[in-house]
Amino acid sequence: MNDTARVGAAVTLRPMRVGHLPEIMALETELFGAEAWTEGMLRSELADPDTRHYTIAVDPGGNIVGYAGLVTYDHEAHVLTVGVVPDWQRRGVGASLLADLLDAAGPRRVLLEVRADNEAAQRLYVRHGFRPVGRRGGYYQPSGMDAVVMARA
Ligand SMILES: CC(C)(COP(=O)(O)OP(=O)(O)OC[C@H]1O[C@@H](n2cnc3c(N)ncnc32)[C@H](O)[C@@H]1OP(=O)(O)O)[C@@H](O)C(=O)NCCC(=O)NCCS
Repeated sequence: MNDTARVGAAVTLRPMRVGHLPEIMALETELFGAEAWTEGMLRSELADPDTRHYTIAVDPGGNIVGYAGLVTYDHEAHVLTVGVVPDWQRRGVGASLLADLLDAAGPRRVLLEVRADNEAAQRLYVRHGFRPVGRRGGYYQPSGMDAVVMARA
């Protein structure tokens, strides 16, 4: 990814760094509530740049308005997270972040889990070639919500 690559009308994609985590944690809590990751979890993700690809979307004022992460294995990759702040949703930021992850995944098969009740995210993934391939009961805690497993060849 080009550090200064412009996407959509007004956001820029950049690699996520440890220094971004305080700002990202505020978004993580807002977007994912009780299922939010801790700062320690994100910090350990960023400590493994050989297998992790984390990207932020920044608005013209320098605010982080979205972020996404991927882990790559030999022949597979998993989308670990995608989030966009409410004010910036439905403006193509999620699609740009996902496209960046898919670019990093290269030819690998890409998998992800998404809450069964998250229609917005499932539609985003379907638009990018993902199809449901399974379901994991009670995957999300503490809610007990099922996950739909989606894959992209
Ligand atoms: C899911 C999420 C990342 C989408 O980000 P976004 O920037 O709003 O997505 P985009 O504007 O790029 O939309 C791309 C496509 O996704 C689908 N989509 C996105 N939001 C949607 C919504 N609220 N309802 C229905 N479809 C939606 C649409 O197909 C859309 O394309 P369209 O606008 O041309 O119809 C965002 O809603 C979000 O952060 N939600 C909270 C966190 C979350 O659920 N993350 C996913 C965890 S698996």
